[in-house]
Amino acid sequence: MAHQSDLIAEDIDAYLKAHEVKSLLRFLTCGSVDDGKSTLIGRLLYDSKMIFEDQLAALEADSRKVGTQGGEIDFALLVDGLAAEREQGITIDVAYRFFSTDKRKFIVADTPGHEQYTRNMVTGASTADAAVILIDARRGVLTQSRRHSYLVSLLGIRHVVLAVNKMDLVDWSQQVFDDIVADYRLFADQIGIRHFTAIPMSALKGDNITEPSPLSPWYDGPPLLRWLEDAPVEDVVAEQPFRMPVQWVNRPNLDFRGFSGFIAAGTVSPGDKIKALPSGRESTVARIVTLDGNLDRAVAGQSVTLTLTDEIDVSRGDVLAAAGDPPGVADQFETTLVWFDDEAMIPGRPYLMKMGARTVSAQVTEPKYKVNVNTLEHLAATRLELNEIGVCNLLLDAPIAFDPYAETKDLGGFILVDRMTHRTVGAGMIHFALRRSQNIHWQALDVSKAARAAQKGQTPRVVWLTGLSGAGKSTIANLLEKRLHAAGRHTYLLDGDNVRHGLNKDLGFTEEDRVENIRRVAEVAKLMTEAGLIVLVSFISPFRAERRMARELMAEGEFLEVHVHAPLAEAERRDVKGLYKKARAGQLKNFTGVDSPYEAPESPEIRIDTTQMTAEEAAEQIFTTLTL
Ligand code: ADX
Repeated sequence: MAHQSDLIAEDIDAYLKAHEVKSLLRFLTCGSVDDGKSTLIGRLLYDSKMIFEDQLAALEADSRKVGTQGGEIDFALLVDGLAAEREQGITIDVAYRFFSTDKRKFIVADTPGHEQYTRNMVTGASTADAAVILIDARRGVLTQSRRHSYLVSLLGIRHVVLAVNKMDLVDWSQQVFDDIVADYRLFADQIGIRHFTAIPMSALKGDNITEPSPLSPWYDGPPLLRWLEDAPVEDVVAEQPFRMPVQWVNRPNLDFRGFSGFIAAGTVSPGDKIKALPSGRESTVARIVTLDGNLDRAVAGQSVTLTLTDEIDVSRGDVLAAAGDPPGVADQFETTLVWFDDEAMIPGRPYLMKMGARTVSAQVTEPKYKVNVNTLEHLAATRLELNEIGVCNLLLDAPIAFDPYAETKDLGGFILVDRMTHRTVGAGMIHFALRRSQNIHWQALDVSKAARAAQKGQTPRVVWLTGLSGAGKSTIANLLEKRLHAAGRHTYLLDGDNVRHGLNKDLGFTEEDRVENIRRVAEVAKLMTEAGLIVLVSFISPFRAERRMARELMAEGEFLEVHVHAPLAEAERRDVKGLYKKARAGQLKNFTGVDSPYEAPESPEIRIDTTQMTAEEAAEQIFTTLTL
């Protein structure tokens, strides 16, 4: 992409040098096609001369063909590049566009405005320094403007422009403008947007975009582009205490050991005392190494390699921080979570949490509430669906170094990833650590699992039988326990129906309740292995994610998954408890195989086909595998 500047012809080296040291502003545009968002971005690109000439020719031809602007250039066509989008008249997905002026470089994230695209907006906004909230002057502050503003505030974007567009269609009325600004100010106060700059403009005609418009003599603020050029960016983070998440440990030979990463906040110099987290070990910065040689000082926004004066243990994903003002370390947090995935967030289900280079197993608890993004109302919820936002606790398997998101985005913002598909399923922001986790410690016990197992003369195991209701799990488990018992083994059989009479009495058969059912029984099975027992678990356990969670709770090789298989038609024919009949008659909701899914194991240790063998044979086969 070309940038027109007289310097290019006169002194290309000077031009390139100037371009290199220009600061970068990332900003987000919020609004919909109706508000003139694409037109505005097109206008910014056009006025900063960031359009290839052939692209321009095509644009003019297209504008004539589509004819939405009566022969004038339709800038929206430039931005709404995809034919499908043009035909639908909406913008989908996040598009990042680059442009620059003599003063600054810009990356603009253009995200769709509709509610079903909340996740796209969050993605686009996560790295933005500023937001331009577009308002159609004829329509004023709408529900969607409020939703966009709420997200902007949630993501901690500090610089906000209220772009009151289409002023040409309201005859540049100062009254209209003032009313919109007053209306917006009331709302902004409520959601914690303390400052914003309101600019009256016409993106289509180019008024108050690059130059002050003669049509608004009553407006004495900057035109949009000047505001974008002058918005302060890096200074705030540079003033904070030093934080650098370690991307990788750089050890090309035995003499050099450096820690590379992107400085998320603060500044660093040789001689500074630093602390490595979560370990808490301290050292002093020896050198700041870069490709261009050693530095005396590095600031937020730079990628560097630090060497330390001591050989302390630091790994990828750790954080190096100012020793005198380190971040917290914790494994439980209150967070705001935005859900990205078609499959809902189910409390208790295991996910992976990624923050910078750190990845930890995580669970989310039941939402304290979810937020209606249009009214900001708090609503009760047991799960979060696609594009929903809620406040939930996050429980991690290991402690991490963190700052509240409002203080340091890089140390407080995280994503959640599905363990099996590796899709990003959500993004979140840490509010604070839960104190309860900091007051609970592991108590050392003198009699170990190994000692308990040795006394029983056996190796603890978990035999996990999964399958449809009526497949024969309980019958086989019962025979297997008898067989083990007779052979002198110490066992316990956890059966779904039985456990649901006591410990899990409060749970039903929704997806949420089944996840919790399995989480609890897996924890109980784990305690029983600690007691040295051979544990038989006979639960439908219909979801792969939770069976995998159970497997991962146990020691290596301890978990034996047995798929007790019967085709649905066969289980239904047997219908020992008459439940299929009830389910088919609509008297029983969420019945596995009927109106609730069963995800068969992909690679169980043992697969029993109950149409091919008797329960006795099945029990014998498992017994043999166990005692091999
Ligand atoms: S699980 O899906 O959460 O693992 P679990 O094994 O505890 O289920 O309980 C299943 C038993 O509850 C079944 O054997 C059946 O007797 C009974 N049951 C009652 N309602 C349902 C239902 N909607 N779906 C499946 N099983 C049900």
